[in-house]
Amino acid sequence: MKKKKVLVTGGAGFIGGNFVQYMVDKYPQYNIYNLDLLTYAGDLTKHSAIEAKDNYHFIKADIADRMVMIPIFEKEKFDYVVHFAAESHVDRSITDPEIFIRTNVLGTQVLLNAVKQMGVTKFVHVSTDEVYGELDFDPSTFFTEETPIQPNSPYSASKASSDLLVRAYHETYGLPMNITRCSNNYGPYHFPEKLIPLTISRVLNDQKVPVYGDGKNIRDWLHVLDHCVAIDLVLHEGVNGEVYNVGGHNERTNLEVVQTIINALGKSEDLIEFVEDRLGHDKRYAIDPTKLEGLGWRPTYSFETGIAQTIQWYLDNKEWWQQIISGEYQSYFEKQYRL
Ligand code: NAD
Ligand code: TYD
Repeated sequence: MKKKKVLVTGGAGFIGGNFVQYMVDKYPQYNIYNLDLLTYAGDLTKHSAIEAKDNYHFIKADIADRMVMIPIFEKEKFDYVVHFAAESHVDRSITDPEIFIRTNVLGTQVLLNAVKQMGVTKFVHVSTDEVYGELDFDPSTFFTEETPIQPNSPYSASKASSDLLVRAYHETYGLPMNITRCSNNYGPYHFPEKLIPLTISRVLNDQKVPVYGDGKNIRDWLHVLDHCVAIDLVLHEGVNGEVYNVGGHNERTNLEVVQTIINALGKSEDLIEFVEDRLGHDKRYAIDPTKLEGLGWRPTYSFETGIAQTIQWYLDNKEWWQQIISGEYQSYFEKQYRL
């Protein structure tokens, strides 16, 4: 029987990379195509354990380039598309919003057009809880799939725009799709500009950890492997046209996260440095995952088990993150992001 073809965009990044590895191992009966432009956030060294496998394929391409994307779709005739490729860092979107519009909005539209032309069994659009804006500190409030879309940063505005395009292609052209909106992920291969890997790498180097504002902003942490299982489930079992929130009730203040890491590594909390707050800094994110739980999904990691596993992974894989922050990947990174 012909193997089904699954296109994963952004499969050289953090979540897409974990998802590609998960799918290649779990589904030998599928061919997994990792399509990625290899921007500063993309790296293929993470796939050394799977790159020789028969069911793994890599395509270097820009999702926003229609002249390239249409021929790829005509040639490969994918059965499924799981769309991760994006500019993903809020701080970068505040200093340079334009690339976020190009990649996240135009890139998604180009992809949708290719999918519309060739047809697919299912298009899964991986979005973010940040499209809902922010919650206040009342712990009984959560984002549900019915929460109004009210993005506050250029990043979340670009993701919200892409969500609306996916919805429009479903309503107008009958595109079979699901949208997933997850909370903050963490785990192996997380790029060290984001809070958790930045803190681990800096603490291991005895460098100060910048905490924005008073450190009381809250994020709802989801281990990336629990997220991969959720996307697999939505891909195969999600009801056509539905949105699913993904989160595991692991709310922590940023200060708690940083303190947990410092204490686990046996270092001093003097490493914490409170710095100027992020512009438009969302106060709190928290997910109500009831709808996804209705499909049978349950997270396997608590924040305690997940952060312990993640810290151990960064200890065991220093070469991976050191090559990034040493400037072998991007030298400008040090200047702009204080690493
Ligand atoms: P990432 O920044 O680690 O990876 C993004 C990948 O997309 C990189 O490999 C990059 O090379 C690729 N890419 C960028 N522009 C491209 C283009 N024009 N064409 C092809 N590839 C391109 O991102 P991530 O953290 O893995 O996030 C993946 C997705 O999940 C994003 O859509 C993001 O919005 C969403 N998301 C992330 C989080 C999180 O906590 N990291 C939370 C919620 C949602
Ligand atoms: P981040 O990992 O950038 O994810 P997001 O902005 O998508 O939630 O940031 C997580 C939280 O940590 C956010 O409230 C901003 C804060 N933060 C810091 O306090 N210091 C830092 O150096 C970074 C990168 C983030």
